[in-house]
Amino acid sequence: MADLLLGQLIWFEGDPFREGLSVARHMTHGGLLLDAGRILARGDGATLRMAHPGARVTDYGDCLLSAGFVDAHVHYPQTAIIASWGKRLIDWLNTYTFPEEARFADPDYAALIAGRYLDLVLARGTTSVCSYATIHPASVDAIFQAAQARGMRVFAGKTCMDRNAPDNLRDTAQSAYDDSKALLKRWHGVDRLSYVITPRFAPTSTPGQLAALGALWREYPDCLMQTHLSEQPAEIAWVQALFPQSRDYLETYEAQGLLGPGAVFGHAIHLTARERARLAEAGASVVHCPTSNTFIGSGLFDMGLTATLPVGLATDTGGGSSFSMLRTMAAAYEVAQLRGQSLHPAQLWWLATCGSARALRAESQIGNLAVGMEADIAVIDLASTPAIAQAAARADDLWQALFPTIMMGDDRAVRDVWVGGQTAAARSGKHPLNAAGVFSMKADRL
Ligand code: GUN
Ligand code: ZN
Repeated sequence: MADLLLGQLIWFEGDPFREGLSVARHMTHGGLLLDAGRILARGDGATLRMAHPGARVTDYGDCLLSAGFVDAHVHYPQTAIIASWGKRLIDWLNTYTFPEEARFADPDYAALIAGRYLDLVLARGTTSVCSYATIHPASVDAIFQAAQARGMRVFAGKTCMDRNAPDNLRDTAQSAYDDSKALLKRWHGVDRLSYVITPRFAPTSTPGQLAALGALWREYPDCLMQTHLSEQPAEIAWVQALFPQSRDYLETYEAQGLLGPGAVFGHAIHLTARERARLAEAGASVVHCPTSNTFIGSGLFDMGLTATLPVGLATDTGGGSSFSMLRTMAAAYEVAQLRGQSLHPAQLWWLATCGSARALRAESQIGNLAVGMEADIAVIDLASTPAIAQAAARADDLWQALFPTIMMGDDRAVRDVWVGGQTAAARSGKHPLNAAGVFSMKADRL
């Protein structure tokens, strides 16, 4: 049976950074018709209701129906160490991250955290993520199995490290290649899952390991390749010492076949002019991780990159300090303010949906409300707390009404989430309409 969702709609007809704000579209009293996991129609709610009398109607009133958020760079294994105090990148990795990632040698622990992580993000309106796993192949199985159970489109890969990591977290060039290839063959293209070739970053991979993963990527060029680039000055100096022949950080990847369309570089804060030019020429994407960049003390990302590169937005869980893409949009706004730029609410919303989807080369499937797109939908309450409600009440247009939710909203702002055309409640056998046919908000919270 088709579902008809009623509410306000937000969608995009283009990139508001390059094409102007008029590409951001809003409709009050809109409707979305969903069937077989996709959006079948988008338009005026009353008209769709008349045209499809057989559809099951869920009326969300004044809530905003948006594409689900797409978090373009996360480490699901760092769920339990989010908000760990007092360290900068290299110390933070050694003190908190590596000991926690070692626990993923236990497949039961990996399964526990993978499920917990996806439930945390779904409750915040995030319907797709691009995640690092740990070096353990079972940690990749865990996140893909958890995504499969929830019907989510998820991108993930085995993190590869063959140096500068503890003994129990090191693979080799050959085992990284073999394990990654086996996982890729097991999972890539199954249901809504995509394998991502994942060297952690240049300091923890020998040139030999980077080359092996470059060779794998040449065999499977439709896979994404994700890694970290130019996050902190001390890290960049370390890369220079480890790769004395490289002109810059990017060249450590480029020299081994790890730069091209489908390469997704997290952070990319302290770039040289050559690196910026090469990234654009090569068709690579970068991902802005603003809560992480402030929390770990990395620096202020340059939004000017949106002019030449696909830019995604991400929490970088657990270097980032929040699972929420609302909080992440707020941090992106604050970081841009510190660099003298005021990002418009439409630009922030676009980054968290279409922008991230494009950075992951998935913009024809997720990240927007358009006919034919997969039906991943976040239902946003624009008056979720008294503080937000009183600010939104003064708004003259959608953008003013939305901005208080961007800046102050949390999981309470997410009234419902649809994944692949179903609510989590429906997936578990219950539809959120109660016996009287009234939508029971929050009764089936994820
Ligand atoms: N650089 C290499 N590994 C990591 C990681 O896990 N988190 C962050 N923020 N940066 C990294
Ligand atoms: Zn990261």
